[in-house]
Order: sequence, then structure tokens, then C-alpha cells
Amino acid sequence: MLWSGRFEREPEAAVRALNDSLRFDQRLFETDIAGSRAHAEMLGEVGLLTPAERDGILSALDWVEAEFQAGRFEFAPGDEDIHTAVERRVTELDPAGAKLHTGRSRNDQVATAFRLWTRGALSDLAGLVLDLQAALLDRAVAADLAFLPGYTHLQQAQPVTLAHHLLAHGWALARDVDRLLDARRRADVSPLGAGALAGSSLPLDPPDAARRLGFAAVFDNSLDAVSDRDFAADALYALAVLGVHLSRIGEELVLWASTEVGFVVIDDGYATGSSMMPQKRNPDVAELARGKAGRLVGHLTGLLTTLKGLPLTYNKDLQEDKEPLFDAVDTARLVLVALEGMVATAAFDTERMAEAASAPELAATDLAEWLVGRGTAFRDAHAAVGELVRRAAAGEASLAELVAADRRLGPEAAALLDPARSLARRNTHGGPGPEALAAQIERFRARLDADRDWVRG
Ligand code: ARG
Repeated sequence: MLWSGRFEREPEAAVRALNDSLRFDQRLFETDIAGSRAHAEMLGEVGLLTPAERDGILSALDWVEAEFQAGRFEFAPGDEDIHTAVERRVTELDPAGAKLHTGRSRNDQVATAFRLWTRGALSDLAGLVLDLQAALLDRAVAADLAFLPGYTHLQQAQPVTLAHHLLAHGWALARDVDRLLDARRRADVSPLGAGALAGSSLPLDPPDAARRLGFAAVFDNSLDAVSDRDFAADALYALAVLGVHLSRIGEELVLWASTEVGFVVIDDGYATGSSMMPQKRNPDVAELARGKAGRLVGHLTGLLTTLKGLPLTYNKDLQEDKEPLFDAVDTARLVLVALEGMVATAAFDTERMAEAASAPELAATDLAEWLVGRGTAFRDAHAAVGELVRRAAAGEASLAELVAADRRLGPEAAALLDPARSLARRNTHGGPGPEALAAQIERFRARLDADRDWVRG
């Protein structure tokens, strides 16, 4: 153990089992090594390591990194976490390793490694969200002016273009990219040099270490630096909201793939069968996109509960920060990749959508607006059209006949019962009509391009 000097006995097995984090924090090996490199270089810069010691440590770190990458790294029984394992191995390779922890604590070390890891994971995830958005955009462009019923309360409301509907999910995902990259910005602050909690009497240079790690900023307060896990909570919030959005996409695909609705046929590669019922093609991917949201939301509430009430500064409770975020990142990644493939390959049944949108009542709002365009007050127009819908429902005649025969509406208005005709008139900003849609597609494309640049940052 790296801290055994003060102790007469080794910790009990039950303590090791509870306390050790190596099992799950191994995946910080790359960022832990990056942090150690920057720390060693900074120590060399301020004269706490001779150039030879610094170079010896840097070579040992390269060696350890290569061992990890090749799967050759051997953990020792005393390795409590990834940080102790790396330092132990560096010191075996070069005795100068005994100076690597100068002015450093695992408290600032782990915060540094975890922030670096989080920064990278958020970039990756934002890229995967952009891939899903791109798949939605492709499908939207290919859908051209195909339309389906739009719903409120899951009741047919007004016809909308399929492209418009797909892009609605795309814009929600654009906010997720925004949140993920905002969380990345908050993670992008170096805590290295805060020490255990109170800095150091040695002439450390934290801004220098921060620059070497490519952090955008350096901590302002050493106590805050080692106890702050807001960045992990921010990341988990961004992932929880993303999970909610993915779950809503999943739910619609489940609904659309149902026999009764039948708006989509999921590709064989993204559908699943039943062990007993030979005819089944199940939308498991969409259901898991819906179901996994539960664990993403759970991880956020879990971490916030861990953080609540912690006194300054580092407390071992903080070791509970990693598993939720690791799992949330893994989960979101799995869902994003599968859902992207599912969206890219799904067969939309646009004939069935058009059929579903052909109910004449879906034109009621457009008919009322047609009257408004000819000087009728909207309330009166609403009542007039509502009355025709009621008479049609009572069986007097079809709505088309009643509209054509109505003295205020007439045959010209009756043409609006064709959903393509009524849709073509709804071209206000952000609307589903052809011109508004074309402009929206351009805005969406530009946003994707700008966000791709932002991810690369
Ligand atoms: N494995 C620990 C963690 O993840 C590293 C920090 C340990 N610091 C300490 N003072 N025991 O938080």
C-alpha cells in the first residue's frame, strides 16, 4: 500500500473489498497517466525534479501506458485504485518514481483524471448524437413531402410532413448536443495542484500543469477543486435528458411498428424475434431505448444524493462518482448507435401514413383559417366548421359535401380536405409546409455542421 507507513497492520479483506476502486476505475488509466505526465513536467519546470529524474519518470509512464494498451499490465495485490497501481509500477521501473507524487494527492489526481475522462467521453457522445441527427436528416430529406397525421393527446390533429416530424426529434437532440458540450466546458477545469485540499508549500505551478493537459482553465480554490463533482452531475443531467429524448423516439417507433398503426417496418437487422411465437418481429431496440432512460435518470439522482450534505473537502463518498457516469456513458453509447441504425434502415409506410391522415376532419383547422382569410372572425369560423363536422358525424352528408354546399366555404374550400393541399398552405416559420420545411432543413443542416465543428472544438 502506498500509505502503509503509519499502520502496523494491513487492512482487513472486507475493508479492501469495500474500499478498493480498481475494479471500476481502471478505465482512467490513460487520463491518470496524462495527469502524471503533466505533473512530472511541471515538477521539472519548477526544479522539484532534475531533468534526468523527469525524463526517467516520463519514460516509465510511456512504458506503463504501453503495458496497459497491450493488456500486459500486471496489477499487484496492494493496488487499491488505478492511481496507486500506476505510481507503484512507475517506481518499480525507475526509482525516481518515488518523487512523482511530490505536491500531489490522489484527491487532486483523481479529480484531474476523471475530468479529463469526462471531457473526452462527452465529446464522443456528442459526436454519436450528431450521427443520429444526421440519420434523421437523411430520412427527412428522403421523405420529401410524405405526410402523416400529427397528434395531440394521441388523437389525430392536423396532417404534418413526415420530415417535419422526424426533425422534431432532431431538434431535441440538438439541445442534447448543446447540453453535452456545455457539461464538457464545465469539466474542462484543472484541479491539479490543489494537493490533498490545501495546496502545497512547494513551488508548484498549477496553471502550467493545466496548460500541459489542454484544460481551458485552472481551479480557483484548492478546497473546491478536490470536492467539486458538479461536472459529473452536469454530465449525468445531460445524459438523463438525452435518455428521455431517446426514450420518446423509442416509444414512437414501438407505436408506429405496432400492427394497428403500421407506419414503420423495422429492418430485420434491428428487429428481434420471439422464442415461442414464430410470427413475431419485435422492436426490442426501440423498447430498450425507452427502458434505458430509467437507469440514466437513476444515475443522476444517485450521484446528487451522494453529493448532498458532504462536508468539504474530499470524502471517500466521492469515489461513488465514477460508476454512475461510466455506466451512463456506456448506456447512452449503446442506445445511440443502435437507434441510429434502426432509424437509418426503417421502412416508413408512407401510403399507410397518408391513408391515416385522410380523415376529412383533419382539415377542420385549415378550413377555419380559410374563412379567417376571407374576413370571418376566428371564433365564428371555428363554430361554423365545428357545426359542419358535427352534422357530418351525425350522418347528414360527408364533410366534403357539406363544405362544398356551404355558402361561406364552397368547392374551393372543399379542396382543402386533401391533406397535401392543406399542408401546402402551412408555411409559417418552423411549420410543416413545403417552403417552411425546406428552410428548416437548411437550418438543421447548418446547425449540424456548426455542432460538428464545436465537438472537434
Ligand atoms: N480511488 C479514490 C477515488 O476514486 C481516489 C482518491 C482517494 N483519496 C483518498 N484520500 N483516499 O476517489
